[in-house]
Amino acid sequence: MILSKNSKQKYSMCWLSYKPIDEIEYIREFERYLDKIVLLENNIYFQNAGNELRRALEVLFGTDLRLSNCIDANMGSGIILGKVTDERLNNFITDDEKKEVSEEGFLIKVINKNKGRYIIVASKGEKGIIYGIFHLINKIRLKTRLKELNCIEKPKAPLRIINHWDNIDGTIERGYAGKSIFFANGRIKRDYKRILDYARLLASIRINGVVINNVNVRDKAIWLITPKYLNELSKIAEIFRLYGIKLYLSINFASPIYIGGLDTADPLDKNVQKWWKDAVKTIYSYIPDFGGFLVKADSEFNPGPYVYGRTHADGANMLAEALLPYGGVVIWRAFVYNCLQDWRDTKTDRAKAAYDNFKPLDGKFSENVILQIKYGPMDFQVREPVSPLFGAMEKTNQMMEFQITQEYTGQQIHLCYLGTLWKEILEFDTYCKGKGSYVKRIVDGSLFGMRYAGFAGVSNIGDSINWTGHDLAQANLWTFGKLAWDPDKKIEDIAREWTILTFGDDKKVVDNILWMLLNSHTIYEKYTTPLGLGWMVNPGHHYGPNPEGYEYSKWGTYHRADTKAIGVDRTSRGTGYTLQYHKFWREIFDDINKCPEELLLFFHRVPYDFRLKNGKTLLQFMYDSHFEGVEMVDELIKKWEDLRGKIDDEVFNRVYERLKMQKEHAIEWRDVINTYFYRKTGIPDEKGRVIYP
Ligand code: GCU
Repeated sequence: MILSKNSKQKYSMCWLSYKPIDEIEYIREFERYLDKIVLLENNIYFQNAGNELRRALEVLFGTDLRLSNCIDANMGSGIILGKVTDERLNNFITDDEKKEVSEEGFLIKVINKNKGRYIIVASKGEKGIIYGIFHLINKIRLKTRLKELNCIEKPKAPLRIINHWDNIDGTIERGYAGKSIFFANGRIKRDYKRILDYARLLASIRINGVVINNVNVRDKAIWLITPKYLNELSKIAEIFRLYGIKLYLSINFASPIYIGGLDTADPLDKNVQKWWKDAVKTIYSYIPDFGGFLVKADSEFNPGPYVYGRTHADGANMLAEALLPYGGVVIWRAFVYNCLQDWRDTKTDRAKAAYDNFKPLDGKFSENVILQIKYGPMDFQVREPVSPLFGAMEKTNQMMEFQITQEYTGQQIHLCYLGTLWKEILEFDTYCKGKGSYVKRIVDGSLFGMRYAGFAGVSNIGDSINWTGHDLAQANLWTFGKLAWDPDKKIEDIAREWTILTFGDDKKVVDNILWMLLNSHTIYEKYTTPLGLGWMVNPGHHYGPNPEGYEYSKWGTYHRADTKAIGVDRTSRGTGYTLQYHKFWREIFDDINKCPEELLLFFHRVPYDFRLKNGKTLLQFMYDSHFEGVEMVDELIKKWEDLRGKIDDEVFNRVYERLKMQKEHAIEWRDVINTYFYRKTGIPDEKGRVIYP
């Protein structure tokens, strides 16, 4: 394992662990282009990009290249980094190509001219250069032939942001990979080397924003927006800036009370408005490119505009006005629901909350407010339908919120690659503007022509040796970045590239790991909560099976199982949730025979003897699914065991240990859930397998 060292710790550099290229032919082909690295701009960003490239080439080819600032007529060969608008590149780049390269985009072009051999990496701005460099490095590592290197890349979505749920005491809410790399004991950590390496990892997947503190902003974290912390924060911002990443902060909506000593946080109160304007001014005096605020308001005991009888648009717009002069944005979370609601009333349904709260506000948000919407209407369950808000707010900037950290999906003990699920979500056709109104076109801003749009991913990293606890969970972070840049990319290609960059290109290694990744979500779903059931986890920490375990409500379980049936009738006749979808989907979801089976129990209340498409009863399907899921974990283990000796021992053993734990916990899931159904129904498994331990 290649480790990055600093004084205190060692850790892996994930997919950026470089190793010498071992194919002689490829080295020969490439070496002809390696004379020096020419930087056509003289600033820290180009310097940094040049150094990244230089360090990488040194490992890959064993050559230490000079950094130079000029193209001389007979320089022979080299890699040239410049802006597309640079006149010195006029001989190499056409006007059409120039036009195509956007601010964050880049062009790579291999040139053979008058005996000179050059590889041009050019962008319009600074960020594109660092993205271009990492692209080139990784393409070389994938041994991409020179003639296939030419490309123009540009992001589809403008905002590609990681949300950390890091608390200022150093713990991470829903974190499964150690402690925060940013905070410890109420202070900001000074582990700048680790933060720099993190910035490198993020820039290599083209992330351009990071919110470093938890959305639940409590205690000392409320003060992060004040000079007490801003000086230290500005140093973190500086590191991120070098890699094209902006710093954002989560705020507490009642800050004017906690920090400012005001007696209200009412967004329409003049003193409150002024307080925020002053606070924002101070922030920008420390961090001139500060990204903006992320806000969780009126949700799970966080304060918000409802406290003052105001709307979420009132709240968001007040903050937006303060940020607008500096180019900052407000990212407002749509995760607003009453966690104490009494759902014995058949129309009450948590799934309806986000839409009910926000749909009436479409068109009322300021230009620099973006609504951040969880992928499903509930809370990152192993499977949920796409949130109907995506097809419902044509005049509102929207972002997709994915949870990279595996809260409900195995907490980085179970292997659960999320790329396959995310891809399905992004490919969902909302029909809101007719056929082809895909979610991916809404969150990249193109369908409604929005300026701000994009992706937020709740981070899965911490200070552990491999960043993510489970080594294979690194693939989730990688995939998030790749999809955010281009949601049209094939998920198999994304996963394959990660596998090769992380573990090398041995065929068996690639085939087996790819199989493991691509099947892992289905496997997890099979032995936990299939058919859109969700929620059967232990309260609080949300790990492991507990069929009636949801914490907040005293009004019973989410799935409302009794001795005859299970599931919630969310159709037009039931809670009315399906009414939030376009007619096309409403009709499908409303009809028990048309509803996609993997979501059956999300939308319908179904008797245990209902026959599924494969002829099995619902109950027998449940039993079978749980047995199959566990059997498939054996397959996962076998695929991994086959790689012994082909993978670094330390990594091999770490993953192996987790897979064995996964097996043990999958058995627990199977037995607890199957026993639950057996006890509810009194009907045994048709195949006579032992259900309860
Ligand atoms: C989930 C999670 C919380 C988190 C919340 C959110 O409910 O369990 O820890 O705070 O989502 O997204 O705000």
